[in-house]
Amino acid sequence: MSLNFISAAEAASLVKHGYNIGLSGFTPAGTAKAVTAEIAKIAEAEHAKGNPFQIGIFTGASTGDSCDGILSRAKAIRYRAPYTTNKDFRAAVNNGEIAYNDIHLSQMAQEVRYGFMGKVKIAIIEACEVTADGKIYLTAAGGIAPTVCRLADQIIVELNSAHSKNMMGMHDVYEPLDPPYRREIPIYKASDRIGLPYIQVDPKKIVGIVEVNKPDEARSFAAADPLTDQIGQNVADFLAADMKRGIIPSTFLPLQSGVGNIANAVLGALGRDKTIPAFEMYTEVIQDSVIALMKEGRIKFGSTCSLTVTNDCLTDIYDNINFFRDKLILRPSEISNNPEVVRRLGIISINTAIEADIYGNINSTHIGGTKMMNGIGGSGDFTRNAYVSIFTCPSVAKDGKISSIVPMVSHQDHSEHSVNILITEQGVADLRRKSPSERAQTIIENCVHPDYKQILWDYVKISGKGQTPHCIQAALGMHAALNRTGDMKNVNWADYKL
Ligand code: COA
Repeated sequence: MSLNFISAAEAASLVKHGYNIGLSGFTPAGTAKAVTAEIAKIAEAEHAKGNPFQIGIFTGASTGDSCDGILSRAKAIRYRAPYTTNKDFRAAVNNGEIAYNDIHLSQMAQEVRYGFMGKVKIAIIEACEVTADGKIYLTAAGGIAPTVCRLADQIIVELNSAHSKNMMGMHDVYEPLDPPYRREIPIYKASDRIGLPYIQVDPKKIVGIVEVNKPDEARSFAAADPLTDQIGQNVADFLAADMKRGIIPSTFLPLQSGVGNIANAVLGALGRDKTIPAFEMYTEVIQDSVIALMKEGRIKFGSTCSLTVTNDCLTDIYDNINFFRDKLILRPSEISNNPEVVRRLGIISINTAIEADIYGNINSTHIGGTKMMNGIGGSGDFTRNAYVSIFTCPSVAKDGKISSIVPMVSHQDHSEHSVNILITEQGVADLRRKSPSERAQTIIENCVHPDYKQILWDYVKISGKGQTPHCIQAALGMHAALNRTGDMKNVNWADYKL
């Protein structure tokens, strides 16, 4: 069968109002970029004519502006899952315009397979190569591409020449069977290969190939600052100490780390601490900092779902593929984030919180308990199953008007049962082995900003007794003070006395 090349506009015209489309990619890495922009134009034209045009979007994780941004602004999204970071999408979600289903990233592919999400009509897949016999070679991410390719009626391939064909061979495509037939996922070390380097599809399903030359839209993060550096140093010191006293094996364990400045600072500090041996990553996102540490020999291997790196860094990888070929592997998100594998390998997970409470419950997703920030991403996949689960955050936000540590989180993503360690720039709270009251003592003592310590000690005083003491009517009092006065410091516990 010969390859059928079509334009992005022709491809987009196959997408009809009410369809669910499945996209490749994970973060802006490896996401479709050209056809999605044309779908937005169709939506705008239909809306101008007074016709409805909205679609459902299934992805691996966040996408770039060419997808979530353009489609949100065109009001073309009815439903979307999972994680996203786009500001226009966020605004639309918080205005109630988009139905956003924020599920754990490891669960996305299987929930589509199980039929929880509805039919995938069309898959739009970015590739660096596609063959006439239906082999699709992915670009900078695994995501849910294998699953949506298999389930979709039709596949559109964005053949993107901004990605080098050197990416061929870097992916390990594996889809588990569904219950009751599922077997163990045979990954016993971060570098194990268990699948194919391409997605094999029925070539008849490939309805068109769109030639594209568009680079990924990954952001570069702000340079490290003293605050994030201090958090990073605290994480590295904590891990080095745990290794020294034999809690973490002397070979060290594979690391998962989130995205952003704090993650970069943590990796920087771990790279500098030569008491920690060169280590491996089993993670969902690799950023520039990991690539730099690989070149320095501090990171031996990286298993990931995506290369969420700057375009300069991606070019560097493509140009030096012989160096990276035995040091990197890209997996679908249900494998990169798989709870079974995370627990087997003994991953050390490091994620960022929006707020934590004095008992160790974590809010990763909601501002003020109601407004969506990004989503839970893979933080739950790793935290719940980690060897040691760590959360980091600055002790205060918004120039100190908000304490990141509060009596009770305004929304809960990770419970006290899953969170081992909380780290701010102030210090480290080791929550392992501790009762809720002991956890409150260590968190207030070690992690809370000095401006809020007495406020939280006073809250403990009015909380009475119980396994998890609370003055329930005051538990969100700091949030209420913020809403009322613009500053959590204005809370007055006397207002809540029984
Ligand atoms: N209350 C209200 N606002 C708060 C806050 C709090 N307790 N803590 C932070 N904020 C605000 C910040 O001021 C900032 O506001 P701005 O956008 O107006 O500047 C915003 O929230 C983001 O904070 P920032 O410090 O810039 O966060 P970040 O870039 O380090 O991201 C998370 C932090 C938690 C939003 C991000 O890590 C995330 O989405 N995590 C969930 C997904 C995840 O963990 N994935 C990990 C696997 S990759």
